[in-house]
Amino acid sequence: MTKTEAKEKIAQLSQEIDTHNYNYYVMSNPTISDYEFDLMLKELIDLEKKFPEFALPESPTQRVGGDLVKNFKTVTHRYPMLSLGNTYSQEELKDFDERVRKAIGNAFEYVCELKFDGVAIGLTYVDGKLTQAVTRGDGVKGDDVTVNVKTIKSIPLKLKGNDYPKEFEIRGEIVLPRAAFDRMNEELVIQLRDEGYSDDEINERLYRNPRNTASGTLKQQDSKIVATRKLDCYLYALFGDDLNFDTHYESLKKAKQWGFKVSDHAVKCKTMDDVFDYIATWDKSRDELPYDIDGIVLKVNSYSQQEELGYTAKSPRWAISYKFKAENVATQLLSISYQVGRTGAVTPVANLQPVVLAGTVVKRASLHNADIIEKLDVRVGDFVYVEKGGEIIPKITGVDLSKRKENTEPTKYITHCPECNTPLVRTAGEAAFYCPNEDGCPPQIIGRIQHFTSRKAMNIDGLGDETVDLLFRKDLLHNIADIYDLKKEQLMNLDRMGDKSATNLIDGIEKSKQVPFEKVLFAIGIRYVGDTVAKKIAMHFKSMDNIINASYEQLIEAPEVGEKIAQSVISFFKEQKNVELVKRLEHAGLQMKVDESSNKIASDKLKGLIIVATGTLKNYKRDEIKEAIESNGGKASGSVSGKTSFVLAGDEPGENKITKAKELNVKVISEEEFQKMLE
Ligand code: IVH
Repeated sequence: MTKTEAKEKIAQLSQEIDTHNYNYYVMSNPTISDYEFDLMLKELIDLEKKFPEFALPESPTQRVGGDLVKNFKTVTHRYPMLSLGNTYSQEELKDFDERVRKAIGNAFEYVCELKFDGVAIGLTYVDGKLTQAVTRGDGVKGDDVTVNVKTIKSIPLKLKGNDYPKEFEIRGEIVLPRAAFDRMNEELVIQLRDEGYSDDEINERLYRNPRNTASGTLKQQDSKIVATRKLDCYLYALFGDDLNFDTHYESLKKAKQWGFKVSDHAVKCKTMDDVFDYIATWDKSRDELPYDIDGIVLKVNSYSQQEELGYTAKSPRWAISYKFKAENVATQLLSISYQVGRTGAVTPVANLQPVVLAGTVVKRASLHNADIIEKLDVRVGDFVYVEKGGEIIPKITGVDLSKRKENTEPTKYITHCPECNTPLVRTAGEAAFYCPNEDGCPPQIIGRIQHFTSRKAMNIDGLGDETVDLLFRKDLLHNIADIYDLKKEQLMNLDRMGDKSATNLIDGIEKSKQVPFEKVLFAIGIRYVGDTVAKKIAMHFKSMDNIINASYEQLIEAPEVGEKIAQSVISFFKEQKNVELVKRLEHAGLQMKVDESSNKIASDKLKGLIIVATGTLKNYKRDEIKEAIESNGGKASGSVSGKTSFVLAGDEPGENKITKAKELNVKVISEEEFQKMLE
């Protein structure tokens, strides 16, 4: 075979195999026998081996796997991977609908989609070719699992047609179809039997459910194994700077034309009754689907209306999920124990006869609070229904009264703290009982210190939960500020702590003094001030002193701060001991101010302006322009609407954006004009 012939043959085989893959995996309509397909693939593999210079970068042979990855690279998402608000009832959905109507009026429609129970993935395509696949991770950064994702046959390595944007990201869910999951377990059972395991041991070792298995598979280091696992992928959202769509529904249709597997079960709905019908249908028929779904997703269809609705810190205001009622099982309640958290709240926990629920063994469940125990009339010895809802911790939803023994007594809720014996209190309007002994109740003290040192807060290496516990019990830590008085000599006398770990710990503590202010604010553990809110408050007030001195009215002005949070901040700093603790931390050298040098707030010259940038700019890359707009007080937006202040157009601007701007009478300005505004 000459080189020219080889090159042509490789191209032709690649093309043909692609088509067969598409017909089989996306369209579920095979056009060739497995045997013929395997022969073709083998021919291509052999040719590429002989003439590697002609192998196409997007060759279907990559789907066989082979590359080994030790550690997946962490990458920052260009568009953060948000989550969705969850609802569980028609009422909650109606509330959502009302919020939407209040914001954008009545002229809109929804798209209802299935909520795939799998692993979220973001696929980037450049010039029609798959370049990167990243898991959700923490929403900001995820793992680059491209080699593994390339083995999933329904994901196109190369797109069809030619009307796709030069670069875009498409998101969806990687699922393991139930049949493939069952098959994996069947094979595992055979293998484990061969290896001599007992049935009990085998049960312990089985794959638990398709979602966990899909997730584990995606993190496999050997892409060859991934290639054998029959993962599938449904796509449901597009992101990009040059998406020429007005609606989400249109984007799904287009994605389908480009070769993606897009569910046929997405439908447009005008009224909430249509939405409820959709839910009822799929709640009933979900078992007929080849993969698991755990609910439906409701999205406002129009992109400009989505834009208008915007986002909360964690999720879009234009979409919400509805979760189907979870599976439930009955089991016996063996005892009730009471846990005291770092805020002093007491949580009753049910200890259960272990039972398998939705694929996992459940031994404990939350009983929430005294009211719920009373309402359900749960008694030790009862057979109770356990359900896994949206939360990870299962809950008890009812009692099988027919199985209750005679002469049992209703549960008496504890009256004293199980840890320090202080009488419990209950604030009017709150469900939980509290132990008020903040400064003397061990789990509260330990919990606050553990929160302070945790990864999302001060992230102190070497000061994990167990070490905090140990140091508290050895009388070396009574509060968060004591951490900074610890000496190496004190630590070395402790069991399990050698010279090296003591040095590490002291180094970790020292390093934490550089942790940015916003994390310090989160770490001190003001109730209701989570990491996102802490960041907003920190950026707004700039320093701890400003926050300590802020009035309720000033606090409530800050972004993300409502009455509850403002009140909580006020109560926290009203306590002299908290102010003193903070002063000790400041004295120890912790960051008590926003670091202005790294803070890019440049001016408020664009305050109140909503700006859409499009095309290539000379002075800014894509994410830089967003930063430039935001750091000057403006809001960067991706699509043109009536609210857009102006469109900043670079070279080759998005045609649709310009047309839309003209239509809506929105001013279009050049980069030079923009620069002038900033001067
Ligand atoms: S849209 C900005 N659509 O559910 C929101 N998500 O709880 C983008 N999911 O992280 C998500 N099916 O992993 C969307 N049809 C669907 C979905 C879906 C499943 C997952 C997704 C997301 C999670 C949110």
